Amino acid sequence: MMEKTWSSELETGIAEIDAGNRKLVNYINDLNQAKISGDREVLLNVMENLLDHVCNQFLFEEHMMEEAGYEYHKAHEKVHELFAKKLADCRGRVQSGETPFEDIIKMLDHWVDNHVKNEDRMYAGTVQTKIEQEGGESFVKSVMKRLFG
Ligand SMILES: [Fe+2]
Repeated sequence: MMEKTWSSELETGIAEIDAGNRKLVNYINDLNQAKISGDREVLLNVMENLLDHVCNQFLFEEHMMEEAGYEYHKAHEKVHELFAKKLADCRGRVQSGETPFEDIIKMLDHWVDNHVKNEDRMYAGTVQTKIEQEGGESFVKSVMKRLFG
């Protein structure tokens, strides 16, 4: 299995969002590694961390889209909601003893190559403009603090 790599095609240009999406690529590689040995512990661990990570990432993205007045933010939110639900279902399967490596890897791979590459990049300009208007990095930091303490 080829290692999945990050590319500029996946970038929104918003550092915090790109960092979050890069983590997804790392999770795909971790899962591919764990699949070889069939390591259930790794799978369980990844599912816990992944769901947590994705929920935080979505919260941040959704907040930024709303603040920026991004036209399709509600629709984007719906897509997030569905994906989080699918991930939660997968976690449930893992917790009940299954090892659906393939399904999870496929789902994540598809998410990166579609949602990250296309849909996340669609709001990038609007959100970037808003960040610049509000003072740049200090604005992002204050949003982070408000959302995550
Ligand atoms: Fe998104």
